[in-house]
Parts: sequence; structure tokens; C-alpha cells
Amino acid sequence: MTTRISAFGRLADGRTVSRIVLGSPPGPVLHLLDLGATAHRLEVTGSDGMRRNVLLGHASPADYLASTDYIGGTIGRYANRIAAGRFAIDGKPVSVGAHDRGNHLHGGPDGFDRRLWEIAEHSHEHVVLELLSPDGDQGFPGNLRARATYSVDAGGVRILLEATTDATTVVNLTSHAYFNLDGEDAGAVDEHLLQVSAEEYLPVDPTGIPLGGCVPVAGTPFDFRQPTHVGPSVRSGHEQVAWARGIDHNFALDAGSAPAAVLESPRSGISLRVLTDQPGLQVYTGNFLDGGRRSSTGRLLRQGDGIALEPQLFPDTPNRPEFGSAVLRRGESYRSSITWLLGRS
Ligand code: BGC
Repeated sequence: MTTRISAFGRLADGRTVSRIVLGSPPGPVLHLLDLGATAHRLEVTGSDGMRRNVLLGHASPADYLASTDYIGGTIGRYANRIAAGRFAIDGKPVSVGAHDRGNHLHGGPDGFDRRLWEIAEHSHEHVVLELLSPDGDQGFPGNLRARATYSVDAGGVRILLEATTDATTVVNLTSHAYFNLDGEDAGAVDEHLLQVSAEEYLPVDPTGIPLGGCVPVAGTPFDFRQPTHVGPSVRSGHEQVAWARGIDHNFALDAGSAPAAVLESPRSGISLRVLTDQPGLQVYTGNFLDGGRRSSTGRLLRQGDGIALEPQLFPDTPNRPEFGSAVLRRGESYRSSITWLLGRS
């Protein structure tokens, strides 16, 4: 059987945006867009036998491009923040712009989530999308070739993000899918249970830049070592939560943790296990969804309607050698793997 590819819409310049459908019922069915290598829709069967779309999305290419919520997109070149949009590579200053409260966020105002990726390969179960990001793109040096492979089987979705460069640069790719395991239009995820395999998280300043190093989650609203309802944590009044209007923080994943996170809805009985080889998980509870944009079914997306679990390097790694390195050199390969295992409770 071949992949089903159809037109999702058009960009202002007339180019067609394609939708690629992977998998088949009763297993998970993923709808991807070549615009932003976006995970647009994911249909899953709940314990009540109902099929639900568990991903937030928008209805048209124009809606995706008008939004600053990065819904479902593949984020690059650098997911999360770089302080003041400045860093150095081998002692040479690089400036990548600061469009988010004085910092660089998610690859810039024209990041990978807004580009039309090329469909390089496809089958019924997988698709490979490719993007060439030219030298100087959003301020980043080097011609970067990025590749996003999405595969679907009965167990879930596997995402492989890869990149190579012809000059030294920094790379941190991730998927910015927002989940609501009760269905896209079900309202806030407060009743979802979240478990994160992290003894520590990274406190940030009011603009999202790490204050110092990681601190223990014990005794804070960031303690998700056991399955914990999302609602009380995002309303806790803790200064970190107040500054971010909810949770918008990097969790330092315990070494060898599998899964990195488990999200479960007692209502639908759907569970999601996130596996990754990345050191951090940005947990973002949709704090800035403000009713200004519509879901794919036309309803208003409001605060907390979805939760993003974004495996990646720690924020501001290009300025923080103690967090590791985001540097990719010519001849090296960047690789990040993200798995969403779907199950029923
Ligand atoms: C960031 C948030 C940001 C959001 C945009 C998240 O990954 O951590 O601070 O507002 O993306 O949708």
C-alpha cells in the first residue's frame, strides 16, 4: 500500500501544503504536514473504544503561519531559548536575533516550523522530510541539511531528527506537539496524570533563561516523579510557576530513564510514554494559548488545552558549557530520537 498524500491547502505564494497520512486503524494514525514537518493530527483508540485526535492543530496553512504557538511543528535550528540571541562558536560571536522577550526562541521568527519541507521518501508507515537551511539562516552559520523521519506502527510514533552541516554551527531539534489525551477539543489537561523521570529541573528567570543550575524537584510543584495531576501544579503559586504562568521548564532527565515521561488521561484511558536520547525535557503546559487562535475544528485554543513534552538539549546550552554542547561541525551528524508509545489503561 502507498502513503496517502493529499493537498492540505496553499501558501500565499501558491505553493501547495501536503498532508501525509501514516498508519491505519485500529492502530494510531498520524497526519503530518510538509509545512513545518508538523504533526497535525494523531488518532488513537481510547479504553472506551472511541477514536480521538490527541494532538492540537490548526485548520489551514494560514492559521499555522499566523500562530506563534509552534503547534505540532518540528523546531530548529535551535529549540528553546538562547539568551539575548548571542553566543560564540570557537570564540567567534554569533547573533541570531532576539524575538521573544529579549531572547532567541525556537530557531527565530522564520524557524523550521514555518518552512515547506521536501518529501524525500514515503511509504504507508513512514515519511522522510528534508530541509536545507542556508548559511546565515536566521543568523546561524553553515548550510544545514535537516531530516525528519516519522514512522508509525501499532505501538506508536517514532521520530528521528538528523542534521549535517558544512560549517560549525549549533543544533537542537525537537517536536513541539501538544497533547490532549481526551481529544483536541476536550478543554484543559488539568486532570491528566504526568510522570517525568527527573530528580531535578532548571529554574529560569521571567524571560525563560536559566538562573543557574538544576535544583531538586522534591517538595516543589515540579515533582512529577510519581504520576501527578497537572492542575494543582500549574496553579500552585510557586514563583517559578507564576513567572511562566504554568510549567514551562526543562527537566533534567535521569540518566538511562525510559520512559522520560508518561502522560495519562483517566477519562479516555489513553496513555502516552515518551522515550528519548536527549538530556532534557521541556514541559510546557500551553501557558500562552490565549483564545486568539482556533483548533483544527474551529474552536478557540485556551490556556492549558494541551501539554507539550519536548525532548531537547537544555535551554541556552550555547552559552552554558556546563550543560553540554550544541555544536555541530562539518563531518559530524546530529541525531535526536523521540518515541511516543501509545497505550490504554
Ligand atoms: C516554550 C514557551 C513558548 C512556547 C511557544 C515552548 O516550548 O518553552 O516558552 O511560549 O514554546 O509555543
